[in-house]
Amino acid sequence: MEKRQLGQSGLEASVLGFGSWAIGGDAWGPVQDQESIEAIQAALDGGINLFDTAPVYGKGHSEALLAKALGSRRKEVLIATKCGLVWDEAGTVSRNSTYDSIMREVDLSLKRLQTDYIDVYQIHWPDLETDMEQSAKAMNDLYQAGKIRAIGVSNFDVSHMEAFRKISPLHTLQPPYHLLRRDIEETILPYCVDSQVGVLAYGPLGHGLFSGKMTPGTTFPEGDFRAKNALFQGDAFLRNLQFVQELKAIAAEKDTTPGHLAIAWVLAQPGLSVALVGAKTAEQVRGNLRAADVKLTSADHKRIEAALQVVYTA
Ligand SMILES: NC(=O)c1ccc[n+]([C@@H]2O[C@H](COP(=O)([O-])OP(=O)(O)OC[C@H]3O[C@@H](n4cnc5c(N)ncnc54)[C@H](OP(=O)(O)O)[C@@H]3O)[C@@H](O)[C@H]2O)c1
Repeated sequence: MEKRQLGQSGLEASVLGFGSWAIGGDAWGPVQDQESIEAIQAALDGGINLFDTAPVYGKGHSEALLAKALGSRRKEVLIATKCGLVWDEAGTVSRNSTYDSIMREVDLSLKRLQTDYIDVYQIHWPDLETDMEQSAKAMNDLYQAGKIRAIGVSNFDVSHMEAFRKISPLHTLQPPYHLLRRDIEETILPYCVDSQVGVLAYGPLGHGLFSGKMTPGTTFPEGDFRAKNALFQGDAFLRNLQFVQELKAIAAEKDTTPGHLAIAWVLAQPGLSVALVGAKTAEQVRGNLRAADVKLTSADHKRIEAALQVVYTA
């Protein structure tokens, strides 16, 4: 599988990354640990070398499961995990990127991941109540100490990255990015290109929407965040499904699937390093691998833009 540089970190990642949010088990409806382990192993066997997780995904469960599934193959891969979202005894999650909290969190993640280094360590969300200076200093200290091999942030805008980069190098950004969520194109993506910050896009399948399996009758089980996510509500959902139909038609002409097309579209944007694709089963992983080989022509891009125009300005 094609690999790309993660900013100026010196690390090379496969263009498809494995997203480990759903396998945490607390935000996407029911998942089976054995199936999650097989999904991770299918990703490894399919040439994926970047695995993205976070402590908050299943409150430690996703990280622990990743370690279990990787086993002795840990050294073959890049583990990307996060800090900055913590929970109390009642399970209430809050942002905390103070120096001390990051230092505490990194050791907990290392333990759950059964490793002595993290490849890409990312602040999950900006903590607006903590000076960026201390968050950036913590990340840089971890980098200098060799506990982490690349410094990343997630859900940061340009002003957050500017403040961060006054104190510390920054290798990667992890923003939301897919065909129906393109706000980063205005300032964030150009900034990353100029500053040589690698971009790991999350949600490239529109959280499952572009897989093409959903219908107007699709509902989500208790505990699946999509039950309340705007993409999947009422008239907006119907319109989004109409767009997926357009995507299916374009994909069919290229002998591919709407899911592959959606992932390939993300990877075709300037500055993109990795599309982080979530999966719950080995079958889903295998079904997504070919997206890495799909290349879009300028005619394909025009057709996709035209489909967006037709569906969303009608
Ligand atoms: N930094 C952040 O704040 C943040 C936020 C969100 C995500 N992320 C990261 O990005 C990763 C990917 O994002 P995402 O998981 O939200 O969205 P995604 O990759 O757009 O969608 C993944 C979901 O689509 C469905 N799917 C995947 N392959 C499929 C296939 N071949 N056929 C049918 N359905 C398929 C699965 O859910 P179902 O089977 O249930 O439909 C899967 O969990 C996450 O796992 C996480 O690592 C980070």
